[in-house]
Amino acid sequence: MRIGVLTGGGDVPGLNAAIRAVARRAFEYGYEVMGIKDGYRGLIEGDLEPLTRESVSGILHVGGTMLGSSRTNPLKKEAGMERCLENIEKFGLDALVTIGGDDTQSVAYELHKRGVPVVGIPKTMDNDVAETDYCIGFNTAVTVVAEALDRLHTTANSHHRVMVLEVMGRHAGWVATIGGMGGGADFIAIPEVPTSLEEVCKHVEKRWEEGKRFSVIAVAEGAQFKEIVYKEEELGERDEFGHVMLIKRGLGATVAEEIKRRTGKASRAVVLGHLQRGGSPTVFDRVMALQMGVRAVDLIREGKFGHMVALKGSDLVPVELEKVAGRTRTVDLDLYRIAQVFY
Ligand code: F6P
Repeated sequence: MRIGVLTGGGDVPGLNAAIRAVARRAFEYGYEVMGIKDGYRGLIEGDLEPLTRESVSGILHVGGTMLGSSRTNPLKKEAGMERCLENIEKFGLDALVTIGGDDTQSVAYELHKRGVPVVGIPKTMDNDVAETDYCIGFNTAVTVVAEALDRLHTTANSHHRVMVLEVMGRHAGWVATIGGMGGGADFIAIPEVPTSLEEVCKHVEKRWEEGKRFSVIAVAEGAQFKEIVYKEEELGERDEFGHVMLIKRGLGATVAEEIKRRTGKASRAVVLGHLQRGGSPTVFDRVMALQMGVRAVDLIREGKFGHMVALKGSDLVPVELEKVAGRTRTVDLDLYRIAQVFY
């Protein structure tokens, strides 16, 4: 048995732990493992290397991915899928482990439909892959967000300012909601719940009236404000999966400027950006990645292909890739309402 493993989409801390787990469990069963470079780019171009016990050693705590990643979409490349299938054959891969978010798992499902034995592992700091309660990288990201909010609190308090923290989350506001709750944000704006500058300003004014002369606000990059409408040309280029780079439009800065203009309170914006995806994984992400990696190889051994390892409650279970592909898991609105209790 020879397994190919790839990491696709935006990197997160914990990917190396997952790669290590896939390799170590596979070696235990006497399987070989080939690392595919830069996600589907490596599968299209035949850029693979054997993983060994040595090459996956000492990487548990290291952020990023030793295999590299990309947003390459084989469905958008000339004969992309055919070249993937050819290379699977050429390198003698009997199974494929795809570690990635919705885009990566959607392509995995397409490969599965063409007869490739695939098992997925959910990864994205956005935590928005369908059919799983958790995606590798999320815990580290929200830990960074909460720490950033802690730091912004002290400076906001000293200068009696409004600090707006823009965090990632194009289609789902999990990072803003959980990171914001953990860091005590005074307002949380997410894509799922449209809001308005008027509402935010009302909160800011209320805090000042209550004697709290500062405010810390968490805004997801994809949050919707009634008064802020972007034209298509302001959204910039799209990647191969059709996503715009929202970080470039500077929503946090616009919100901070508008708060200043409407309330007269000094406001500043901070874009946390890729700091949310860098550095060492938390213990939670390491241990979750190790478990998911081991479970993925066990599914291969059981011949249970076309599935993704998913966390449901406290259990790791296989879910069909068909149910994952092309879907997004948005924020649970009951949870968002709990977050709102605190502001
Ligand atoms: O998909 C994960 C994500 O972190 C999004 O939240 C964010 O909008 C995007 O990646 C940023 O992508 P890039 O790595 O291309 O800057």
